[in-house]
Amino acid sequence: MISKEYFVHESSYVDEGVEIGKGTKVWHFSHIQGGTKIGEYCVFGQNVNVGNNVVIGNYCKIQNNVSLYEGVELQDYVFCGPSMVFTNIIEPRCEFPQQGSEFYKKTLVGYGASIGANATIVCGHDIGRFAFIAAGAVVTKNVPDYALMAGVPAKQIGWMSRHGVKLGSADAEGIMTCSKSGWKYQEAVPGVLKCLDWPEGKEVESRKWEVNLGLG
Ligand SMILES: CC(C)(COP(=O)(O)OP(=O)(O)OC[C@H]1O[C@@H](n2cnc3c(N)ncnc32)[C@H](O)[C@@H]1OP(=O)(O)O)[C@@H](O)C(=O)NCCC(=O)NCCS
Repeated sequence: MISKEYFVHESSYVDEGVEIGKGTKVWHFSHIQGGTKIGEYCVFGQNVNVGNNVVIGNYCKIQNNVSLYEGVELQDYVFCGPSMVFTNIIEPRCEFPQQGSEFYKKTLVGYGASIGANATIVCGHDIGRFAFIAAGAVVTKNVPDYALMAGVPAKQIGWMSRHGVKLGSADAEGIMTCSKSGWKYQEAVPGVLKCLDWPEGKEVESRKWEVNLGLG
């Protein structure tokens, strides 16, 4: 059943066979191609192209001039900054084109992750939950949950909290505290950060619970 409780600006095109959830808004000069599934309450800015068979969760924000190509999947609450770039073919050649789903490498962007303006994601890599990709970074490897990545090629320069604050040094127990929320984080093993105040792996259920209580 295709919901019609969404908004598409008259300058934009939505092809046949697209599913869009309620409350989603598609602003000016954008194009959503066939087979794509978009969740609820997403916002697409100006000049956004969503290719065939793309999967987008709920509450995502896609800023101006972003193209989401086939093979890209966004979980809920993903932020794509203006003019950031996804890719889906690792070694493209114009003379010997690789067209068709079998050639497209997948890129999964985890729940709550943010991608800064003008960043590039080389295809075939996963971006972890709540990861933060700095403006202009070029991602060439998988990105751990909560990792703050910057530069070309992108390197991890720290950890970012769920609430979008760079985490400072750990205390004697190895705990880092988010200055915005007070929530605590700890490396479970080196390179794997866990939040001690958030049920890891149950974000979707917990988020619904928070929204129902008027907390978020
Ligand atoms: C990565 C980011 C979150 C860091 O913010 P911050 O913690 O305030 O960082 P600071 O300004 O204190 O910089 C810390 C260091 O990282 C470097 N740095 C900051 N942003 C960087 C970036 N995008 N790429 C490379 N290095 C960066 C700084 O030069 C500085 O280096 P130094 O310690 O050698 O001087 C921020 O710079 C960023 O890129 N935000 C994304 C903005 C964006 O794209 N928004 C989109 C919606 S408008």
